[in-house]
Amino acid sequence: MKINWENRYLLDEGIRDHMSVAAEKAVLCEGIRSACAIHVCLCNDDAIAEINQKYRGVSASTDVLSFPSLEYPPGYTASQCEHRLRMEYDDDSKACFLGDIFISVPHIRKQASEYGHTELREACYLLIHGICHLMGYDHIDPEDKERMRKMEEKILTSVSVTRDSVDAPSVENTLLSLAREAMKNSYSPYSSYPVGAALHCIDGRIFTGCNIENASFGLTNCAERTALFKAVSEGARGFDIIAIAANTKPWPCGACRQVLNEFAPDIRILVTWDSYVEEKTLRELLPEGFGPDSM
Ligand code: THU
Repeated sequence: MKINWENRYLLDEGIRDHMSVAAEKAVLCEGIRSACAIHVCLCNDDAIAEINQKYRGVSASTDVLSFPSLEYPPGYTASQCEHRLRMEYDDDSKACFLGDIFISVPHIRKQASEYGHTELREACYLLIHGICHLMGYDHIDPEDKERMRKMEEKILTSVSVTRDSVDAPSVENTLLSLAREAMKNSYSPYSSYPVGAALHCIDGRIFTGCNIENASFGLTNCAERTALFKAVSEGARGFDIIAIAANTKPWPCGACRQVLNEFAPDIRILVTWDSYVEEKTLRELLPEGFGPDSM
């Protein structure tokens, strides 16, 4: 998810980084496949009160306001309306614009201390709440409210910013845990060697993949290529990190190194097995590689 930040009021950069991860997780939890973008304005109470008055006729300050740019049919949310998102696709930003969110930074501070949790949790929660609105969720009738709360909780849990914990994972840790998750979908009856991969695109999207074997052995597709082909076929170009998980150290095979080299010669490769993690670059694993620039 691309965030166009408008910083009218200073908020700790670390908190903003966590908010970016939360936004990525929101798209992932909802299951949106298109690249998305939002505008987030961090402002003070007077500014949010002015926007509240101007667009909603309410003369009061508040914590968060969101203005979806898309209208979803009643009962539908973004992942069920992928075609509508695609209609919003903007060639310049290479993303579908979901809408604008305004967050009052003084409200983040006040509410964090009232609820007895961190500013980080409150900031992530308010952003997630706003993004849920942009994805078509609402809390007017009780059924919708429950659905929205469930989605908010799912996203908060996935950034590890639950009520009890404040450690949001880095993109690297997110990829490692998604690669381990993807291993569970492996179809590997012949080798009994499940592999999972999670590929991070520079537009913020993450694609996962697993190895898919075949009775005609040579037709097996590795986890890395599954993730990469999924990404490329959804229009993604430019990748910076891939995480690979298996039961032993899974440096990618030669074919996968070559295919990765086509799209991302500088990609960082993280491998994980048991509780170990190692990292190398593709350039280290494929020195003097043959690629599009070689011809
Ligand atoms: N495998 C991968 O998924 N990635 C690699 O880079 C190496 C191998 C899979 C293919 C096959 O299903 C199993 O691991 C054993 O070779």
